[in-house]
Amino acid sequence: MEKPLFLYALCGSQRKASTNRRLLEALRDNAPAGVTIEISELIGELPIFNPDREGEKTPAIVKAFAAKIGAADGIIVACPEYAHGLPGGLKNALDWLVSRDEVPFKPVMIAHASHRGDFALEQLTEVLRTMSFALVDGAFFRLPLLGKSDDALAAALAESTISGPLVSALVKFCAAINIPKT
Ligand SMILES: Cc1cc2nc3c(=O)[nH]c(=O)nc-3n(C[C@H](O)[C@H](O)[C@H](O)COP(=O)(O)O)c2cc1C
Repeated sequence: MEKPLFLYALCGSQRKASTNRRLLEALRDNAPAGVTIEISELIGELPIFNPDREGEKTPAIVKAFAAKIGAADGIIVACPEYAHGLPGGLKNALDWLVSRDEVPFKPVMIAHASHRGDFALEQLTEVLRTMSFALVDGAFFRLPLLGKSDDALAAALAESTISGPLVSALVKFCAAINIPKT
């Protein structure tokens, strides 16, 4: 039997009605048996990254965030594009992790809730690779939810869950995590 997996999800949007968050919630709610997904509530609470506050001076909330990353078997990131770039809050959260030990070789999957935003996707890929995350390209999952009404959004999520692509992206990610490392 494969071991249970804990996945930690980072949402780059702080909006209450965030489509990226809805996408992460759908992944969480349809995770295969044995897979737990927790969506981070800490990103919007982190102080602005400052290298002077690393090491012994690391704020408690940053340590708590890093501990979640460290405990996770894999990370899922979903974020909007802001001005052709990454949302500052998400980049800030990632910056806190750059010099720490939790990230190298940590599997990561990107989910994306828009038909647009390719600049942000390109930057996110570059940042994650530079930080030595193990990006699982085959698990990339895109579902255009931008501009949809609540009902249309729920229908799109339900359709994607029933017809399979949402769950199969997650299954691919979990399979990549479970492959024994040589
Ligand atoms: C400040 C700001 C800047 C944005 N810049 C872009 C952009 O450069 N390109 C784009 O495709 N969408 C842009 N958008 C639209 C968001 O990326 C889009 O609404 C996104 O799907 C929202 O994600 P969310 O529902 O998870 O908050 C911008 C939105 C905001 C609020």
